[in-house]
Amino acid sequence: MTPTRETFGNIPFSSQLAFYGLALVAMGIFAWGVWRRWKLWRLGTPIHVRELITGNLAEIWRKVRPGAQRVVVDAGAQQRVRGHGFGTVAHVSLYLGFMVLLAGTTLLEADNILSHISSALKFHRGTYYIVYEYTLDVLGLLFLLGTIFFCWRRLRKPAALGHRATDWYVLLSFLAIGVTGYLVEALRILWQQPTGIGAHCSPVGLWLAGVLDGFSVAEARSAHFALWWVHSFLVFGFIASIPFTRLFHFIAGPLNIFLAQPSLGRLTPVTMEEVEQTERVGPSDIRHFSRQQLLSLDACMECGRCEEACPAFATAKPLSPKRVVQDLKGLMEATAAAVAAGKTEVPALHEATIAAETLWSCTACSACVNVCPVRIDQLGFIIGLRRHLVAEGGLSGTAATALRRMQSNGNPWGLPAAERTNWTEALTPKS
Ligand code: HEM
Ligand code: SF4
Ligand code: SF4
Repeated sequence: MTPTRETFGNIPFSSQLAFYGLALVAMGIFAWGVWRRWKLWRLGTPIHVRELITGNLAEIWRKVRPGAQRVVVDAGAQQRVRGHGFGTVAHVSLYLGFMVLLAGTTLLEADNILSHISSALKFHRGTYYIVYEYTLDVLGLLFLLGTIFFCWRRLRKPAALGHRATDWYVLLSFLAIGVTGYLVEALRILWQQPTGIGAHCSPVGLWLAGVLDGFSVAEARSAHFALWWVHSFLVFGFIASIPFTRLFHFIAGPLNIFLAQPSLGRLTPVTMEEVEQTERVGPSDIRHFSRQQLLSLDACMECGRCEEACPAFATAKPLSPKRVVQDLKGLMEATAAAVAAGKTEVPALHEATIAAETLWSCTACSACVNVCPVRIDQLGFIIGLRRHLVAEGGLSGTAATALRRMQSNGNPWGLPAAERTNWTEALTPKS
C-alpha cells in the first residue's frame, strides 16, 4: 500500500469549517496589526519606494537586486545573527525548525486543496510522504531546542536583553506549539496504527506513541481531537500576536534589511537644497526621520548586541544605542497617538526623549551599526539629531569652542590655519 495519510483525519467536517473560520480571524488580526505599524512608519518623510518598481523588468531587477541579496544572506542565511555564541546556535536552530514547519504546513494545505480538485493531484504520498514526515518530525526538534534555550536565557535575565511582559507569552506558546504538535502526531499514530514503511517515518512521534501506549483506539481518537484543537488555537494565537510582540522582528527585520542603505555607518551630507526645502538641519520632530528609519525602529528585538559593542556604554557614558532606538520607537507611538487625537502639540524629541549629553557621548565609531543583525543605523539617528543641535546653537563645552575656532581661525586649537595639520607630522613614518 502507498504510504500516505488523510489531512484532516479524525476531524469532523464542522470542526474543519470552524478551523478555517478561526484561521481567517487570526490572519485578519495579523493584517490589522501590520497595518497599524505601517501607519506609524508613514509619519516619516517619503522614501520613494515606487521608484524601485518602475521601468522594465531588467531595470526593476537592477534596482531591487542589492536589497534582495541582503535579505537572502543577512536574514535568510542568518549571516548577521552569527557571532553571538549559544544565542546564535539557538536562533539558527529555532529559525530553521520554524521555516521547515512553515513550508511543511503550506505544502500540506496545497495538497489538501489539490486533492479536493482531483484525487489524482494528491502528492502527499509515496516517497514524498516519507521524506516529508521524516524531515518535519526531526527538524521540528530544532524549533523546540532553540525555544528551550531562549527560555533558559530569559530566566537568567541578562542585562543587555530587553524584557517585556509579552516575551514569556511568545516563548511559552512556541514551547506549547512544539509539544502539542508532537503529542497530536503520537496520538494519530496510536489510533491510525500505520503499517509498513509509513509506520517508521516519524521517529519522534513514534517514540512518544510508545510512551503513551495504553490508550485504547477510541481514547486515542478523543485525545487526538481535543489536542488538535489546543494545538490549532495556539497556532492561531501565535499568528494573531506577531505584530504586537517582539516576533514582529521577523517581518520588519527583512523589510529594513531590504531598504537600508548598503554601506552602513556612512554619513550622508546635508545639502543646501534640503535645508532650503525643509527650513531646518536635522530632525527636530520624530516625523522628520524617513519612513525607512521609522520602520527600522520596529525591527529592533532588543538583543542588546549594539549596547555590548558600544565604547560609550562600556565607559559608563549616558548612552546606549539600544535605548536610543527604543526611546525613538516609544516617541513614534506617542506622536501617532497625539496626531490621531487631533493634538497640535506632539511629544518633544530633543531633551524630553533624547538628551543632548546622550548624543554628545557618541564617538561615531559605528560599532553598533556593524553588529546590528537587522541593519538598524543607530549612528544615523544620533548624527541627524546632533546636526540639529549644532544648527540651533545648542552646542556647548569643548565641541562648541572647537567649532567657533574653526570658523574664525580655520583651526580647532585656535592657532593659525597653516599650523592645523602640524600634529600629523609626528605620525609620518620615518624612512
Ligand atoms: C528574518 C530574519 C531574522 C533575524 C535577522 C532574526 C534575528 C534575531 C536576533 C538577533 C535575536 C536575538 C538573539 C540573540 O540575541 O542571540 C532574535 C530573537 C528571537 N527570534 Fe529572531 N530573527 C529572524 C527571524 C525569526 C523567525 C522566523 C523566528 C521564528 C518565528 C524568530 C524568533 C525569535 C525568537 C523566539 C527570539 C527570542 C526572543 C526572546 O529572547 O524572547 N526569529 N532574532
Ligand atoms: S557609534 Fe556611538 S552609539 Fe554606536 S557604538 Fe559607537 S559610540 Fe556607541
Ligand atoms: S538596535 Fe539592533 S543590535 Fe541594538 S538591540 Fe536593536 S536589534 Fe539589537
